[in-house]
Amino acid sequence: MALPDTHIPLFAGKGFEEQASAVAAAFGFLFEGEAAEPQHLDYPFVLWLDDTGLSVRQTGRRPMGPIRCDFVAGSARHRRLYGGGKSQAVAKAVGVRERVRPCIADLTGGLGSDAFVLASLGCRVTVVERHPVIAALLADGLARAAEAARGDPALADITSRISYFIADGHEWLASLTDAERPDVIYLDPMFPERRKSAQVNKTMQVFQHLVGADADADELLPKSLAVARYRVAVKRPAGAPWLGNEKPGLVMEGKSVRYDVYPLQKIPDDLR
Ligand SMILES: C[S@@+](CC[C@H](N)C(=O)[O-])C[C@H]1O[C@@H](n2cnc3c(N)ncnc32)[C@H](O)[C@@H]1O
Repeated sequence: MALPDTHIPLFAGKGFEEQASAVAAAFGFLFEGEAAEPQHLDYPFVLWLDDTGLSVRQTGRRPMGPIRCDFVAGSARHRRLYGGGKSQAVAKAVGVRERVRPCIADLTGGLGSDAFVLASLGCRVTVVERHPVIAALLADGLARAAEAARGDPALADITSRISYFIADGHEWLASLTDAERPDVIYLDPMFPERRKSAQVNKTMQVFQHLVGADADADELLPKSLAVARYRVAVKRPAGAPWLGNEKPGLVMEGKSVRYDVYPLQKIPDDLR
């Protein structure tokens, strides 16, 4: 599969030129103009803006599905409504329990799926993402969720708990005052994808080409441990080594994913 350059050109569907120029200016993309459809453009991948929002599109005759951030429908909606609530492993990893909803900083935000789950459970989540293409998809997904939330009070509640920064996690941590320290820091850096299956694999290949292997991820752990009030939780693929070679205090093993928890002090019984 031909992989995209890390700087993907942005194109707009008919009528979305003005909006696309604003996105290009905000995120530093090259805006190439309007086009009829993404498939015939002369790049292996493009950023595409139309009435469905912003997405990364593969071109050519049999393109893979769009990569976009969608909190309103699809798997985010399904998990929000039927996903197991606070008994989910990710909830336990960050310390959610009866009367405990820690304030979380997700320093490796990606497309915000984990952050959305944590906000659905009632946590306030600050999402930090440094890659402009991923950050733009995230910002677009959050904006569309906020729009859909006008007719959906439950969704409005969730989106009101999510804020985001386009920043490097290392720098963002260094900028915090003592009063701004999060209760919990959540980390899910990129890890070489080993699963073989179709769409997930292709999406991850594009993601990995865009953001690389997060080579500085190991250093994020000691910095997070110095800033979090109660704990740092790290998501790893099952079988992956510990982040920074640092042994966790608690491990939650899943089938394909593991959560390594680094407790700093006991989370109070009433924390919101
Ligand atoms: C595996 S993805 C995270 C997926 C995310 N947990 C989700 O649910 O969508 C890792 C992301 O972390 C971002 N990232 C890695 N290190 C970072 C850092 N130091 N600061 C900000 N973003 C970082 C990468 O750009 C990438 O988008």
